[in-house]
Amino acid sequence: MLKDASIVREGDYILLYYSKNKKIIAKATRDKKIHTHEGIVDCNEIIGKKYGDIITTHLGQPLIVTRPTFLDFLTKFKRKTQVIYPKDLALIVFLSGVGPGSIVVEAGTGSGFLTAALAYYVRPDGRVYSYEIRRDFLEIARKNLSLCGLLPYVDLKHKDIVDGIDEKNVDAVILDMPNPWDVVPHAKEALKDGGVFVSFLPTINQVEKIVEKLIHENFLDVLTIETLLRKIKVKKGETRPETFMIGHTGYIVFARKP
Ligand SMILES: C[S@@+](CC[C@H](N)C(=O)[O-])C[C@H]1O[C@@H](n2cnc3c(N)ncnc32)[C@H](O)[C@@H]1O
Repeated sequence: MLKDASIVREGDYILLYYSKNKKIIAKATRDKKIHTHEGIVDCNEIIGKKYGDIITTHLGQPLIVTRPTFLDFLTKFKRKTQVIYPKDLALIVFLSGVGPGSIVVEAGTGSGFLTAALAYYVRPDGRVYSYEIRRDFLEIARKNLSLCGLLPYVDLKHKDIVDGIDEKNVDAVILDMPNPWDVVPHAKEALKDGGVFVSFLPTINQVEKIVEKLIHENFLDVLTIETLLRKIKVKKGETRPETFMIGHTGYIVFARKP
């Protein structure tokens, strides 16, 4: 019999929504109590509810039981390194052409934000091989990936990618590290013909250096972009861009192996 997807089942991740800035992700586990800023919720009361139903905390606060998106999980990730923001993650994933079944090599893992985004899209048959030189960062990434159930699609490797890439015939090599030019020859060897190279870099000086290296190694279609994202304040008769925005995160360099 088909399961009714509109019902919360044991083991489902749920989002308890109080307001735009007050949301909590939790796993619906029998006999568990969820502690929120608005009071305690009994998981047994949530299991079997319909998504969209309202549940009341022990303080009498109503919370809407809804579904978390991948982005909601990212907001719960621990950060021990500089991380890639959703505006850049989205573009990197799209530019790299990564999709279900893709084999991707990534470095460095850092806090695992990009790793998670890649794993989310290569599921269920693809794989992300993520290189990181710091063991402590790998542990943070491992916890973050476990939180959203994406660890089974990732190989976390404690290895300096400058020493070489073990995998062959990969669809994409994606780097967020200070010296990606040292990896370009390894990336060329690891990528399948027509495979994609992407590098995320905070400074123009690094961009010049990587582009020069990619051209020297005969990569095609070299493209450098920056994405600026503006939130819009929507209010009747006063709708306009928000005053403040994130001015700079990094540049994305894309290239294709011939
Ligand atoms: C900015 S962080 C990456 C953040 C990550 N993309 C995220 O979204 O969470 C850069 C990481 O690259 C790692 N790193 C630097 N050089 C490396 C190398 N040669 N091989 C593997 N990892 C490296 C650093 O230890 C650091 O964790």
